[in-house]
Amino acid sequence: MSKILDKLSGFNLNHDSFARYDKMRLFGQIMAIYYGFACIYSFGKSVSIYGFPQTISSITNSVLSFYFKVFKSIPGVQGIINSKVDGILKEIELKITDPEGKAGIEDVIALPQIGFSEEKIMEILQKRANEGKIDWESGKVSGAIYHGGADLVKLTNKAIGIFNISNPLHPDVFPGLRRMEAEIVSMTLNLFNAPKDACGVTTSGGTESIIMAVRAHLQLAAKERNVTHPNMIAPITIHTAFNKACEYFGVKLILIPIDKYTGKVNVTAIAGSAVNYPHGVMDDIEQLADIAKRNGIGMHVDCCLGSFIMPFMEDAGFKVGKFDFRVPGVTSISCDTHKYGFAPKGSSVVMYSNKKLRHYQYFVCTKWPGGIYASPTIAGSRPGSLIAGCWAAMTSIGKEGYIKSCKDIVGSRIKIQKGIESIKELRVIGEPASTVVAFTSVSPLNIYSIQDAMTARGWGLSTLQYPPALHIACTRLTVGVEDMLINDLKESIKEIKENPEKLTEGTAVMYGMASALPDQAPVEDITRGFLDALFKI
Ligand SMILES: *Cc1c(COP(=O)(O)O)cnc(C)c1O
Ligand SMILES: *[C@@H]1O[C@H](CO)[C@@H](O)[C@H](O)[C@H]1NC(C)=O
Ligand SMILES: *[C@@H]1O[C@H](CO)[C@@H](O)[C@H](O)[C@H]1NC(C)=O
Ligand SMILES: *[C@@H]1O[C@H](CO)[C@@H](O)[C@H](O)[C@H]1NC(C)=O
Repeated sequence: MSKILDKLSGFNLNHDSFARYDKMRLFGQIMAIYYGFACIYSFGKSVSIYGFPQTISSITNSVLSFYFKVFKSIPGVQGIINSKVDGILKEIELKITDPEGKAGIEDVIALPQIGFSEEKIMEILQKRANEGKIDWESGKVSGAIYHGGADLVKLTNKAIGIFNISNPLHPDVFPGLRRMEAEIVSMTLNLFNAPKDACGVTTSGGTESIIMAVRAHLQLAAKERNVTHPNMIAPITIHTAFNKACEYFGVKLILIPIDKYTGKVNVTAIAGSAVNYPHGVMDDIEQLADIAKRNGIGMHVDCCLGSFIMPFMEDAGFKVGKFDFRVPGVTSISCDTHKYGFAPKGSSVVMYSNKKLRHYQYFVCTKWPGGIYASPTIAGSRPGSLIAGCWAAMTSIGKEGYIKSCKDIVGSRIKIQKGIESIKELRVIGEPASTVVAFTSVSPLNIYSIQDAMTARGWGLSTLQYPPALHIACTRLTVGVEDMLINDLKESIKEIKENPEKLTEGTAVMYGMASALPDQAPVEDITRGFLDALFKI
């Protein structure tokens, strides 16, 4: 959800309830949208001058929860809420389907009767490629584009071209492609100090790698330990792909606060991150893996974001804890080649400490009238061109290239971190381990107002919640823009202190409200509506 709310805030909702800083009116309207939460809150507490409270205690939350239930039962309230949610959704739809800088080309709603000419297609593609106003090339966007440099893009495009019609579902037709896929897995295993017996598969991305690892451990637990009600333990900072996997497969996900880990008999796996998405912090993998080992359960290390940075930290001269197959108890690792491996998007590797786990991951169906069928991952047919692109990126960059990119990008994070630490209104969260640094603001300054001020300056920082914070995932593009970032942060803070009404903008209102709400239903409605809007013409 945080990613989606990011997008929402990027659109700076211009709904009338968010437009002007008129405290009473704003509160009245939001009260209607959000089950009267804001109103109840303002009775009990004075609202901080820079914005909404950043966090709310669980006790306050349960009290609010009670009041909101009463409030919701008042006749007519649900109707008002629904119409307000509808209004916000219409606004979002408009911003998505008619963005600033939209190329003036007709929408293609149905197949053209007679196909377009090549010139026309090229013209439309060029215009659409330039739609939008976020200048990612300037290095102001957190993560998102893991650019390996102009020359590498040229090379991977050629590789993609050569395998333009290939499909790895048919290794007999494309034996050379199969070989490259196996080599990608082998090269990645080697980086993670895999034992002789280890193995892996390629997938379409981090999410699929994680879903596959959950499936493998789940099958193992079901087949060998008769587990019918599987649980999984992970820190709250684990990537939301684990929530997705658990929702898909009916696994109970036990999210534990950072620092306190517990074991349970029918837990099928523990998961930890090296590094986690929100704060770029590495979990204590050795400690978690030890618990897993002692309980005879699996231990997954999410190195999707750590990808081709973490294995090169030592060689690049940085200190790093143990996170790979050298740690006893680690049974699987996911690593995104399409992040800091600089492969084209749609590429990741999931690795296992032994072949049995990989077998449990596979899907096999021997009774299909269409023939005996087996496929390693979720997809059936797959784009072989992406494997060729990934292979070309990995082999052309090589160890020396990745060590240099690790030095540069982690160096960029360290510079930014030092800059943030020098600003007395900001606090870095935890101990950043590689390329990501997260920070929050010191009360009464609202971190989401800083996000809005930074967005206005062209930055695309990521919004976090629980606790409210922002982060930047450094990439090759952010190398060299560190001073500009720190400078803009200082100016944003100055501006907010001088104009506290900044809180009327998108992120401040959206996240301020969303995190304080005792009930997430309206936020979920808006978020689903956002996804619907993506498929509107
Ligand atoms: C990006 C990421 C993932 C999921 O990757 P996708 O490629 O977006 O599916 C998983 N874990 C972490 C820590 C990530 O940063
Ligand atoms: C696409 O594939 C065909 C058939 O293999 C090949 O002849 C052609 O050169 C490829 N295109 C590019 C751009 O490489
Ligand atoms: C699982 O169930 C089967 C069949 O009911 C039984 O034979 C087996 O011993 C059980 N295994 C474990 C580990 O409980
Ligand atoms: C596992 O734990 C759940 C509770 O989360 C329990 O209901 C279930 O019976 C337990 N045992 C097995 C074998 O799944």
